[in-house]
Amino acid sequence: MKKESKKYTVITGASSGIGYETAKAFAARGHNLIITARRFNNLKYLKAEIQKDFPKVDVIIKTADLSVTKNVYQLYDELKEYHLKVWINNAGFGNYESVKEQNLQKIETMLNLNISALTILSSLFVRDYADTEETQLINISSCGGYIIVPTAVTYCAAKYYVSAFAEGLAYELKNSNAKMKAKVLAPAATRTEFGKIANNTNEYNYDKSFGTYHTAKQMSEFLLQLYDSNMTVGIVDRETFEFKLSEPKFNYAGNSAHNQKN
Ligand SMILES: NC(=O)c1ccc[n+]([C@@H]2O[C@H](COP(=O)([O-])OP(=O)(O)OC[C@H]3O[C@@H](n4cnc5c(N)ncnc54)[C@H](OP(=O)(O)O)[C@@H]3O)[C@@H](O)[C@H]2O)c1
Repeated sequence: MKKESKKYTVITGASSGIGYETAKAFAARGHNLIITARRFNNLKYLKAEIQKDFPKVDVIIKTADLSVTKNVYQLYDELKEYHLKVWINNAGFGNYESVKEQNLQKIETMLNLNISALTILSSLFVRDYADTEETQLINISSCGGYIIVPTAVTYCAAKYYVSAFAEGLAYELKNSNAKMKAKVLAPAATRTEFGKIANNTNEYNYDKSFGTYHTAKQMSEFLLQLYDSNMTVGIVDRETFEFKLSEPKFNYAGNSAHNQKN
């Protein structure tokens, strides 16, 4: 039995960067929010900011380290009492290092968060809401989830997973006439805390390191364009920085005679 009749949009990784701005963008549209990350103080600040501008929007804070599998299931369980409408798997981080040199403890945490948590949360949301009108799952990949970037091979491979999983799920939902839509956002360089974490530094200058980048607010506006569209993919062109909406990009064996017969 759901305690609340209100509908909520869940955003993971809402304590900074793209997730933070996305929470504000959905609040401006009147969406009630469930915001989650590890840093409670940032989430508290975000909630206060939203409630100052949009007092009617309900904001629920959930803190969780989603690189730990049991916390992922626990978070989903805690949300069972709410009606959910949109789920945005945004929490994630990157790493710039060769495969030979990369810190495997960091990589393990990255794979747990970027792949495992995203897969578990997507699957549980689909299981409960695939046949509910107007539901959407948006997974945040990267343009590195469509092109391999030197010095970020493992991060890109993880984001290829995110892109392929979201695109495949979009086909699966469509082919079963489900009401839910699955989508994938693929940002290029965006000025957030990503640069610091991916490079293991306390300071990171996007002007020096990239020159061209989007702000997190611009990225949240692209995410809203994707949310409003009938397309599956929202991707930033890594060379021109233009944002494009498109159908799925990977090859799909939907009509192959060589698929397993049921
Ligand atoms: N910025 C870019 O250039 C760029 C480009 C392409 C794709 N992306 C993707 O965009 C997404 C958002 O990143 P961002 O750029 O906004 O970076 P960010 O500012 O570092 O935000 C990352 C968010 O993930 C959360 N997070 C990190 N580790 C976590 C954990 N163990 N458990 C739960 N939450 C965790 C962080 O919150 P806490 O630290 O409070 O837990 C934070 O809210 C990521 O999936 C990233 O891969 C970013």
